[in-house]
Amino acid sequence: MEKEVLGKVPSTENVSFNVFKIQTKNKISVKGLNEFPRDTFEVSTDIKEPDALIIRSFDLHKEAIASSILAVGRAGAGGNNIPIEKCTKRGVVVFNTPGANANAVKELVLLGMLVASRDVVGGIEFAKSLKLKGAGFHTEIEKNKSKFAGNEIKGKKLGVIGLGAIGAMLANDAVNLGMKVEGYDPFISVHHAWGLSRDVKPASSLEKMLKTSDFVSLHVPLTPKTKNFLNGEKIAYLKEGGVILNFSRDGIIHEEDLLKALDTGKVGKYITDFPCSDLINHERVISIPHLGASTKEAEENCAVMIANQLMDFLLSGNIKNSVNYPDCGMECNGDFRLVVTNRNVPSMVGQITTLLAQEKLNILEMMNKSKDDFAYNIMDITGTYDKKIIDKVKKIEGVISVRYIPIKPVA
Ligand code: 3PG
Repeated sequence: MEKEVLGKVPSTENVSFNVFKIQTKNKISVKGLNEFPRDTFEVSTDIKEPDALIIRSFDLHKEAIASSILAVGRAGAGGNNIPIEKCTKRGVVVFNTPGANANAVKELVLLGMLVASRDVVGGIEFAKSLKLKGAGFHTEIEKNKSKFAGNEIKGKKLGVIGLGAIGAMLANDAVNLGMKVEGYDPFISVHHAWGLSRDVKPASSLEKMLKTSDFVSLHVPLTPKTKNFLNGEKIAYLKEGGVILNFSRDGIIHEEDLLKALDTGKVGKYITDFPCSDLINHERVISIPHLGASTKEAEENCAVMIANQLMDFLLSGNIKNSVNYPDCGMECNGDFRLVVTNRNVPSMVGQITTLLAQEKLNILEMMNKSKDDFAYNIMDITGTYDKKIIDKVKKIEGVISVRYIPIKPVA
């Protein structure tokens, strides 16, 4: 889809531009939505032919992605509610906001460890259930409180699976609470490794970590590869009566295997932010209704971050924090910009640049990045733009989408 928009580019005079249309599919913090300048962006729940969507947990698998859509912005981390493969094949860039709600989720995991250790939930329910008044009420409280006694988390061992934004923060805070912490993450990023406390020990193996941890907390995204990651085989390694904390996604754990382990007491407690009807009333399960990121701060952080990433993408084609296309961005330069998505196969760049040369267009700067089977190109060009160039580039086999972004006003 072709857009004529002047965004973060050098000149602002005499350029005709369309207004980008952003459709929200969940309640998104107003602080984030206010980031969009209203002369260039229209933002609404009800919008025809949107250029981009902003969603939280809305299930996009359930509906067709309109052909007008260039980008999907997930104000949050998880992308399992988005048909990512389908989007990728169509050149639709899917963004998320890694880290923006990590603190909120981490705080809830800490709460999860505390409620697993001390029956605070049962105690509160007991206190509320008392019908007595005055002194009798207090006597009953004191008489029964020992039923709800528990343990401290200080000195216990926490095994963290996945040391991304949330896992790394949790590991560090658990150290500060006096816990022994081990982390397991074969794909840890340099950025997150740098931020880890030296007291967070790397697990020598997942099995060993599971065998020796009092608490195991999962922080991996749900993808086809991680589905049922924690299955019966791995659960068998757990310490007898160990606690599993799942604030990632329900599909990460094999539900039937978990239920068996809860029934036998192999798993002492299962604390999750993803309730499921088969486990909700199990005595060893505490379910929270997906409240991990539901704080004002996290909602604002995610909304502001996704708004800015989408604006940068729509106005200048730059990509930051996409789950399906590579990070790729540069300052706008030249007369106009072409952004191209294509299959990551040989001679794509050669064919595109040859075609531009045949059209007497000079590439001032360009960037080409790839991610798995797909690639993204930004080309800043000097010369006169002709709409026909878009159609010509599109005809090259392997090209998925082409977008024109004016940099200088067209005479
Ligand atoms: C996430 O994936 O970021 C969290 O699970 C929060 O999801 P939510 O934005 O739907 O609350």
